[in-house]
Amino acid sequence: MADNDLAKTRERVLSLRREIEKHNYYYHVLDQPLIDDAKFDQLMSDLQQLEEEYPELKDPDSPTRRVGGEPLSAFESLEHKVPMLGLDNAFNEEGLLDFAARINRLSRVDRVDYFCELKIDGLAVSLQYEGGLLKHGLTRGDGYSGEDITQNLRTIRQIPLKLPENLSLEVRGEVYISKKDFEKLNRQREEEGLMVFANPRNAAAGSVRQLDPRLAAKRPLKLFLYGLGQHSLSLSTQEELLCYLEKMQLPVNPNRTICSGIEEVQDYCRLWQGKKHKLPYEIDGVVVKVNSLILQKELGFTARSPRWAIAYKYPPEEKMTRVVDIEVNIGRTGAITPVALLDPVSLSGTTVKRASLHNEDLVAEKGIMIGDTVVVHKAGEIIPEVLKVVKEKRTGREKEFIMPHKCPSCSSETVRLSGEAARRCLNPSCPAQLVEKLIHFASRRAMDIEGMGPAVAELVYKSELVRDVGDLYYLTADKLIALPRMAEKSAENLVQSIANSKNNPLRRLVFGLGIRFVGEKAARLIAERFGTLDLLKEAQEEELTAIEEIGPKISEAVIHFFNKPETDRVLEKLRAAGVNFTEPIGNEEVSEDLAGKTFVFSGALSSYTREEAAEIVEERGGRVSSSVSKKIDYLVAGDEPGSKLEKARQLGVKVISENEFEALL
Ligand code: IVH
Repeated sequence: MADNDLAKTRERVLSLRREIEKHNYYYHVLDQPLIDDAKFDQLMSDLQQLEEEYPELKDPDSPTRRVGGEPLSAFESLEHKVPMLGLDNAFNEEGLLDFAARINRLSRVDRVDYFCELKIDGLAVSLQYEGGLLKHGLTRGDGYSGEDITQNLRTIRQIPLKLPENLSLEVRGEVYISKKDFEKLNRQREEEGLMVFANPRNAAAGSVRQLDPRLAAKRPLKLFLYGLGQHSLSLSTQEELLCYLEKMQLPVNPNRTICSGIEEVQDYCRLWQGKKHKLPYEIDGVVVKVNSLILQKELGFTARSPRWAIAYKYPPEEKMTRVVDIEVNIGRTGAITPVALLDPVSLSGTTVKRASLHNEDLVAEKGIMIGDTVVVHKAGEIIPEVLKVVKEKRTGREKEFIMPHKCPSCSSETVRLSGEAARRCLNPSCPAQLVEKLIHFASRRAMDIEGMGPAVAELVYKSELVRDVGDLYYLTADKLIALPRMAEKSAENLVQSIANSKNNPLRRLVFGLGIRFVGEKAARLIAERFGTLDLLKEAQEEELTAIEEIGPKISEAVIHFFNKPETDRVLEKLRAAGVNFTEPIGNEEVSEDLAGKTFVFSGALSSYTREEAAEIVEERGGRVSSSVSKKIDYLVAGDEPGSKLEKARQLGVKVISENEFEALL
């Protein structure tokens, strides 16, 4: 090829790389995408194609090579150029005042300027850039050397592989997983029969230490940077330092402030203690740093930590309450789950009345009895959990909980299969299981049949109108109106939403059928691979396991499901009713009509949780941001929308009500 052509192609490749990195930055760091996903994917695929065609133009720092490496057998240890020290803690305001008094004494200054940052509850990492290129990423380790987790950190799109300037420096920060992503990750793991993570920090730590970078790449890791190790910059304050990191296009937490004197620091700490549950990620305190870097240098370090900073730690959000009773829930797969019914307590912004106790082993391990006083918290500030029993509060009137050996719904023997923690009811016609199957089938993520919640599912089952999900499609308004507490309008709406659900893509049907271990993601992969239910029914195990991410456990469960005679009966009812059995090509489950649109939600919505609303927007190609800026398209104002509404009005952002949001959908 002529040199000239190669030079032109090189120019094109370099410009594609710059373009892609720019969009990575706008999307992942600024949360303000400039183009929609389809356009971005097109740029990536153009670049990939050129790099394939012209191997001489390949570059390990190309955005196509974020996930490159092979699985490791162990992490290597690498040295930090400047040690990564920990922080001293203050557990109350007295601790803060002591910290300030010491600084005043050592600096001989009465009123020091402090810089306050949120203390992200994740795990500390250090990024080493050389000549502007990301060379290494390390865990903290023992502070002097850490594990080389470069391959995994490269998969985080917020981390630039190349800085805008040709610099050599160490930048430090915290890797974390957001509360919403944590919940989603655990839901997916539960559906796939995997162990769930106790909290977002454990999920982040586990993910960062994955030996296979392809697995790490699938984890929703994010990070905030807040400090430097070795560097040759001349900066004078912590505030300037963070602005500088922002200028280097690194992700920095926007919630930070200068406080003049320790009283303002106290106010700031109180402020965030009251509203930390509203943040999309977990924080466990505020980090207070002396703002002046000159003064920091003067104050120096003790053997363990800097004298110029302290971590003001919030007490973990835990409350004591009483287990009023333990009831058992029967899931759609027959798993029997003990659930603690609690005296209502307010925790991280909501009232908690129930907490799953997961299985009988866990109840025994924690020694929970009915009537016990217990300590509860919320994992990831979302999922209520009983942490421990306060044995000192026992009165002797507590009752032992015994897992029922007969199903409370159908009275058949319950069994524990070997290797399983759950006790199960194996009766395929157990009413409780069948009702749960209906609820799951109709749920928003599956067939999305509005009006078919738990109460209605139970009603149509008990009235014998519906015995399985196939029967739903034969319900008529007349039959429904005859049921107790069923209004004419609701009956008509329900029949309409059942009819609408016939057009859903195959993936929703596969998920809705409730095949064991087949969560939303597996359902999508399977539907995309086979295209029609009839082909899927004939699937061989090898064909299923050939799908990336589908292992033998899921494959076996799928094959077992389609071999059951009752499956055939249900599928024939669905077919005869005209339910769609095909997956549209090109992955167009829902229209991408919100592509390129950014939403901010503020205040409580009446029909969805914020997470659900966000998911709906994202499913349709839109984005949800947590902060109001000129770049957002809509602010959806729920009840008590607060300061975001004011800001949106000031900036001239379009403000819509929940009703208008629904109309938009
Ligand atoms: S500064 C030498 N700033 O908290 C000073 N740390 O308890 C180094 N952390 O090891 C730390 N958010 O893992 C700093 N805004 C923040 C932080 C933060 C979270 C973590 C970090 C550190 C630990 C200390």
